[in-house]
Amino acid sequence: MVDSHGPGWIGGTPPVRPAAAIVLAAGDGTRMRSAVPKVLHPIAGRSLLGHAVHAVAALEPEHLVVVVGHGRHEVSDAVSGLGEELARPVLAAVQEKRLGTGHAVRCALDAVPTPLTGPVLVTYGDVPLLEPATLGALLAAHAASGAALTLLTSELADPSGYGRVLRESDGTVTRIVEEADASPEQRAVTEVNSGVYAFGAEFLTTAIGRLRTTNSQGELYLTDLVKIAHDDDVDVRGVRCIDGWQVRGVNDQVQLAALRAELNRRLLEHWMLSGVTVVDPTSTWTDVNVRLEPDVVLHPGTQLHGTTSVAGGAEVGPDTTLIDCEVGAGARVVRAHGTGATIGAGASVGPFAYLRPGARLGERGKIGTFVEVKNSDIGAGTKVPHLTYVGDATIGEYSNIGASSVFVNYDGVRKQRSVVGSHVKTGSDNTFVAPVHIGDGAYTGAGTVVREDVPPGALAVSAGSQRTIEGWVEKNRPDTPAAEAAARAADPANNGHGGTPR
Ligand code: UD1
Ligand code: CA
Repeated sequence: MVDSHGPGWIGGTPPVRPAAAIVLAAGDGTRMRSAVPKVLHPIAGRSLLGHAVHAVAALEPEHLVVVVGHGRHEVSDAVSGLGEELARPVLAAVQEKRLGTGHAVRCALDAVPTPLTGPVLVTYGDVPLLEPATLGALLAAHAASGAALTLLTSELADPSGYGRVLRESDGTVTRIVEEADASPEQRAVTEVNSGVYAFGAEFLTTAIGRLRTTNSQGELYLTDLVKIAHDDDVDVRGVRCIDGWQVRGVNDQVQLAALRAELNRRLLEHWMLSGVTVVDPTSTWTDVNVRLEPDVVLHPGTQLHGTTSVAGGAEVGPDTTLIDCEVGAGARVVRAHGTGATIGAGASVGPFAYLRPGARLGERGKIGTFVEVKNSDIGAGTKVPHLTYVGDATIGEYSNIGASSVFVNYDGVRKQRSVVGSHVKTGSDNTFVAPVHIGDGAYTGAGTVVREDVPPGALAVSAGSQRTIEGWVEKNRPDTPAAEAAARAADPANNGHGGTPR
């Protein structure tokens, strides 16, 4: 994955535990042109900062510090959330004014107990694809060479926007020049600084005070530590990462989309290699915490978010979005939108179904077409096939809810629950006014408004007997196509067929 000094790639050496890891996330992110702090923009279900912090946390640094500044309250909240997620302390150090990446590291160092001994890892919060193995290899190379500073670099076909790594003919790194400060010749250099560094703690803590703002942006550039080290005859190493995507940063929305697509491609590649069929990877999206078993089939237009899991043999899509859902083995989910729903093994959902939080469908159950389900348990083998709303209900096993029915769960003040037993058959166009209880094996007639409990085995009907007024159309809607059709149907010569004459 990485190469130490010039040619000859290395990797796979055991990681060295850093004394501290510092993630810079205070920048203004102006180029994003967004009210959301740059590092909080999500890709694959995790903020850019989340990706950066997870990567360094994998190396188990003694201290993990995130430098916050722009949007500091929101970013600090995200930092606390990450601490909980990772079950370890993650400090937020405040950089009051954005005086540059060098200044940001100084703020971080002020927040950790001194003296630090061992390597200090510094990364940027806007570089989301960096992998722990790459950081491990960087630390290993740093430890092996005994350099005061080892930086991760990469050759990019288009290096624009990045600091360029300047080397002498023997490969020695002499300095990093920011694009804004670079001469045309320097800009032609394609080896870029990734913003990922391993420092010896002593070098970092002493040299950081020597940074100056003599550059085009008037900032304290962390990258100037390379020149300081070189001028002091202290060893600096550049380790090349051959995987250019890992070092790419996000400065604008175009780069955000490019990195999102690449991360998604990588996640899907991982799942395909573990036995998942992805029919169209370009229109299929998954988040980092999604779990898929072998022989899952994902059809085009499928988006799996949050903690969604899909068990073996299940097919999802086309055109389905599932957020924090659990899909059982062999289930089928077609053109559906689900949040916080559980779908049992062998069950069937859609096409055109809307599953809201707490929708739970049992094994081999069915939630069919134009059906919405919220906070309800639908038992094994039970079917809700057509045009129905099920809210706050518990339905037993092997029951059938007739087409076009509504569980009326809300009286304008309170939500209440209804219960339907097992082996119940309700007629079409029923209204279940909660709270109501329908016993096992009961039936209801078409058009029933169920307001009272129905005992097991009973038939409930609430529609009155039908009244038919003969000749009503002829009398009240004369000279209409309906009246003419009725007249033709009444004519014995027509054999009772009243359709449009040809
Ligand atoms: C920086 C590097 C450049 C490198 C590139 C890699 C410097 C001077 N330049 O440029 O060599 O090629 O990253 O992606 O370091 N930040 C703070 N406080 C500040 C300024 C920035 O915390 O005062 C944070 C930002 O939130 C961001 C990171 O540091 O996460 C990098 O800052 P950014 O302005 O994006 O630097 P680049 O111009 O990309
Ligand atoms: Ca950047």
